[in-house]
Amino acid sequence: MCGIVGYIGNKKATSLLLDGLKKLEYRGYDSAGFCVLDDNQFCLIKKKGKVSELEAQTQKISIGGSIGIAHTRWATHGAPNEINAHPHLDCTGNIAIVHNGIIENYQALKTALKKEGHKIISQTDSEIIAHLVEKFYQNGNLENAVASTIKCLEGTFGLLVLDKNQAKIVAVKKGSPLLLGIGKKQMFIASDASAVISQTKKIVYLDDNEIVSVTYDGYTIKNLQGQLVDKKIVQLKFTIDQIEKRGFKHFMQKEIFWQPQAIENTLRGRISKNRVKLSLKLNPKEINRIIITACGTSWHSALIGKYLIEKLTGIPTEVDYASEFRYRDPIIKKNDLVIVISQSGETADTLSALKEAKQKGAKTLGIINVVGSTIAREVDSGIYLYAGPEIGVASTKAFTCQVTALILLANYLKSGDKEILAELVKIPQKVSLALKLSGKIRHIAEKFKESKNFLYLGRNVNFPVALEGALKLKEISYIHAEGYPAAEMKHGPIALVDENMPVVFIAPKDNTYLKIISNMEEIKARGGKIIAIVNSTDSKIKNLADYIIKVPKTLDILSPIINVIPLQLLAYHIADLKNLNVDKPRNLAKSVTVE
Ligand code: AGP
Ligand code: GLU
Repeated sequence: MCGIVGYIGNKKATSLLLDGLKKLEYRGYDSAGFCVLDDNQFCLIKKKGKVSELEAQTQKISIGGSIGIAHTRWATHGAPNEINAHPHLDCTGNIAIVHNGIIENYQALKTALKKEGHKIISQTDSEIIAHLVEKFYQNGNLENAVASTIKCLEGTFGLLVLDKNQAKIVAVKKGSPLLLGIGKKQMFIASDASAVISQTKKIVYLDDNEIVSVTYDGYTIKNLQGQLVDKKIVQLKFTIDQIEKRGFKHFMQKEIFWQPQAIENTLRGRISKNRVKLSLKLNPKEINRIIITACGTSWHSALIGKYLIEKLTGIPTEVDYASEFRYRDPIIKKNDLVIVISQSGETADTLSALKEAKQKGAKTLGIINVVGSTIAREVDSGIYLYAGPEIGVASTKAFTCQVTALILLANYLKSGDKEILAELVKIPQKVSLALKLSGKIRHIAEKFKESKNFLYLGRNVNFPVALEGALKLKEISYIHAEGYPAAEMKHGPIALVDENMPVVFIAPKDNTYLKIISNMEEIKARGGKIIAIVNSTDSKIKNLADYIIKVPKTLDILSPIINVIPLQLLAYHIADLKNLNVDKPRNLAKSVTVE
């Protein structure tokens, strides 16, 4: 998702647009741009990189004009570079647009527009909107041109349109957020209130397919049939900081709670009639072996990927730390597929492992969140998560979306499993239910926030979840924690167990449940405190666990997505209760671009 903002009023537009973009930068920050109308001329500046770099460019010139539109991008189609940055122009250069969302039928529209002679210069889906407005623009009626344009679009949009020949901004939304900010002698249109709250708290939230026309004299809102729509003006009660985090205290908390939407984004358009649709340059029949390589949290999702892929496809699958893979002189054979997983797409170890794999002749596939990132541009083909920017250093929504993407991939490599796919589309709702446990988990966090060590235990496809839970706690609360296969605890780590050792068990009622119960008894016998993540309770669990966290039941193979939620929340609440810097923990970076 990206951030868009428009301004028309009695002040110079440029600085107000840039301020708005800065407040929206959390929504996307790979490139930014604006177009200001001054004396019937466009001043359009756009740059790869952060808003601050765009702002630096404007210091050297004086830009008049008190009407403009602006955009900070999180690329979905086309690499983050200057040509793909918004605003985009039509062929005449008289129409400028900024867009937030994904136009799913852009390829067909692009082909048709090119056939009609339009020159389309970017790789984005968005640019075709400017050319459609140009195509439908007649007798200066910009509203009608926009209305005709959006009837052609499939997908989502928050759209602002500027016409060189008239002092107005036309805006419309479908599926992406857009609102009006009503100031004194000035109007704002933006993705969310954080962009306008410093100027006004009077807001009109727009609904889908309402066409807004904003001029110096005010605004009108019409539906697609051209009838005026009367909208309520609401008074904002938030502070700017809250709204940037949408009422959450930290970006990590917001990202934990945004996981249902993020998983829906990963799934969107990729399952139809029990089949998985992925545009990958590979032939599943030609894959003899798979190696998945990644770092950190992404390595944990890779471990889950091994279970998924081997169980569903029978293709032998290995997992390697990227930093190990590249130095062990890996044996790569013809028809080996190397999968790299990376949220940022910039992790140096993973990029080096990818290059090693390519150099040895492997086919490569990426599972990546940041579109147009270095790794995304290196792989032969890939699956984007579309999870939106992940700002908290501790990865949360990217992990659950990576596992979701791996489930899609496993079902793509072998004809889709009807039962799994039917349950997969219910997962976002089940994650929402698991998130409702936050208050109970904060209560448990209160009891254990001073612990010095934790043990996380799980079996089978939930062993990597134990590793992920331990990593979450380590990196934001600075408490030492280890994840182990539950059975492995007897081969050493049980020596650590005493009454000061909280042990988190991931204990779904699957085929290893009774074994887990035995492991709990071994811990109990040594005085360890047990926190059990379960999907159903029985007398055994009630007698053994000190704290029971019951999550929604799902298929065993999908259970990591649900079981990780309470572990993310436990780590978050402990770190928050310790007043630590949850979003920017010490010693860490969001993307480790050095080896
Ligand atoms: C996870 O919470 C950490 N921030 C870290 O382990 C991270 O997963 C690792 O650096 C890999 O990052 P990537 O997914 O962007 O490649
Ligand atoms: N799909 C558009 C692009 O890739 C907009 C992306 C967004 O909303 O961030 O430029």
